[in-house]
Amino acid sequence: MKKIKITAWLLAVMLMTNACSNLSTVETTAESEEQLTETSAESEAVQTAPETVYEADITDYTGLTAEQIVATLTLEQKAAQMVQGALYNLDYDDMEEFGYGSVLSHYGMFPELSVSSWRDITDAYQDAALASDAGIPMLYGQDSVHGVNFTSGCVIFPHNINIGAANDPELTEEYGAIVGSEMIHAAQIFNFAPVVNNCIDPRWGRTYECYSSEFDLCDSMATAFITGQLSEGVIVCPKHFFAEGYVVYGTGENSEGINRLIDRGDSQPTQEQIDECLAVYQHMIEIGAQTIMISHTSLWGTKMHENAEYIQILKNDFGFEGFIISDWDSIEKCSGSNLYENVCLAVNAGIDMLMEAGNYEQARQCIVEAVENGDISEERVDDAVRRIIQVKIDVGLFDDPYIENFDTTYEFNSDRSHEVARLLAAESIVPMKLGDYATIEPGMRVLVMGPAADDTGILCGGWTYGWEGAADSELGYRAVPEGVTILDGLEAAADEIGFEVVTDPDMAESCDLVILCVGEYPYAEWNGDTPSLSITDGSQTLDGNEQAINDAADLDLPIVTLVVAGRNLIVEDYIDEWDSCYFCYLPGSEGGNGIADILVGNVPMTGTLPMPYYTSEDDIGTENYLYGVGWSAAN
Ligand code: BGC
Repeated sequence: MKKIKITAWLLAVMLMTNACSNLSTVETTAESEEQLTETSAESEAVQTAPETVYEADITDYTGLTAEQIVATLTLEQKAAQMVQGALYNLDYDDMEEFGYGSVLSHYGMFPELSVSSWRDITDAYQDAALASDAGIPMLYGQDSVHGVNFTSGCVIFPHNINIGAANDPELTEEYGAIVGSEMIHAAQIFNFAPVVNNCIDPRWGRTYECYSSEFDLCDSMATAFITGQLSEGVIVCPKHFFAEGYVVYGTGENSEGINRLIDRGDSQPTQEQIDECLAVYQHMIEIGAQTIMISHTSLWGTKMHENAEYIQILKNDFGFEGFIISDWDSIEKCSGSNLYENVCLAVNAGIDMLMEAGNYEQARQCIVEAVENGDISEERVDDAVRRIIQVKIDVGLFDDPYIENFDTTYEFNSDRSHEVARLLAAESIVPMKLGDYATIEPGMRVLVMGPAADDTGILCGGWTYGWEGAADSELGYRAVPEGVTILDGLEAAADEIGFEVVTDPDMAESCDLVILCVGEYPYAEWNGDTPSLSITDGSQTLDGNEQAINDAADLDLPIVTLVVAGRNLIVEDYIDEWDSCYFCYLPGSEGGNGIADILVGNVPMTGTLPMPYYTSEDDIGTENYLYGVGWSAAN
């Protein structure tokens, strides 16, 4: 009876997560749409705590070193430590039977799971892992890339591109600590973050996940974030090794029926760029990163997941003692002709844990077989498992597998969390043009318009309660119920300093200026690749951008434009018409407040370009940009 209950509960989670997973969002089928509706209705049931079904007969490893623990394990058990399956595939019975090393979350739905629901999930997996024959605690991994962004009620922080624009290491460290605390509250100890690569081509859908095009800015922001995270006891994962920001446009991976433009393509950096990029990873190792994730990309034609030469640099030259994890099903794109060969290639190249969302058990069996066949040495397996277990020991998982006694600095959803997110959002707004009406003065009447004016999902972008996130306009409700839209932020500021917000364009004549809000729909990974960076012509630009731009121009009022996008969109065709223009990037759930803080002068305009502003796609990657990194119209 209990078992049935658990299975029904897990099924509901599976349906919810499947509806938003990488695979199902490639194409929204009638079936997935059905699931979406169905699962929203079932979300209440999902909040119910599962009952514990496994009696955890905890194996006592007290006082043993990682090597000694490895020595107690069978080959089968060691292979299990080396795989990570996804939440919606891996059920508790399988965890109990095999004792897998880790579980990956992918992903939730609107509305998301609460902190306590996440704890229930991880507790149930931990029960099962501890009740397995080996009884090694499992690691729960999640992409908390801008807040605990799959947990309902959390603060969604600005994306990394904003963090690069804000360039405030101290506040970024505190942000890392806040997210670290919140992860611990949700019992998600392993964070697949941050992206530490520089991004050269803004047409790439992962541009906003990067801090900058410059190595030093990426390094200092990643250092600050990681330092904060480590202070709360979480496991970080700088990603994706290696040099993926240098992928050549047009080489994107063609797989699973998807023909990508850039994502997962072939990176072709110079030796100097390679050296600079390696130095960033070396630094991440020095500051204590416990894991590193491999990139889906290739480096000069060799898939990174089988690139032994580069992976070994981390371990042999930089002394990395943590473990290397593959990216989502990516070993399956190696040059082998089947999973077995690909597992051999990846493990022999130096990958220690295989993120195999669905094929985790097959991958485990391949490892066992490969050792039996002599295709992978048992020493390699022992080394991988020792690394994994050492990370688990170091983080305290053997002493406190349910993460009950970790010292956290911040409560979940604390006031400070909102303050830091708001300040980071404000500091990350980059003034692109400042005219006579750059700020709002008391007594003014301000017409707020445009498709990004009142939408929490657009401000937050991808990886927000779902892999790709979603605009409120797409969902029909607020993606982030606690989020502050631009309109909300301006209305609050209006009450505070005494100006008036107008939303009815028929009242334009009585207004002093227009705040025009344009931008992009949320997206993730290859779905954000675009051939055009035009504000009105990109693959992801909001449908209403052009209309709103034209409507604003017809009003004969000064226009202050806010661009909410994951990259530097090209605004050349329109900027001359505008009095002022700000690039806001993806400022998160406090974004509306942060933007208002800049427009009313509560926070100084210190944001600077984290990546060059090109006026033509043809110039990308050259020095032929209009404004370079560090530029701001306020300076
Ligand atoms: C992404 C990673 C992410 C992983 C797990 C992959 O597709 O490339 O950045 O950590 O999925 O969600």
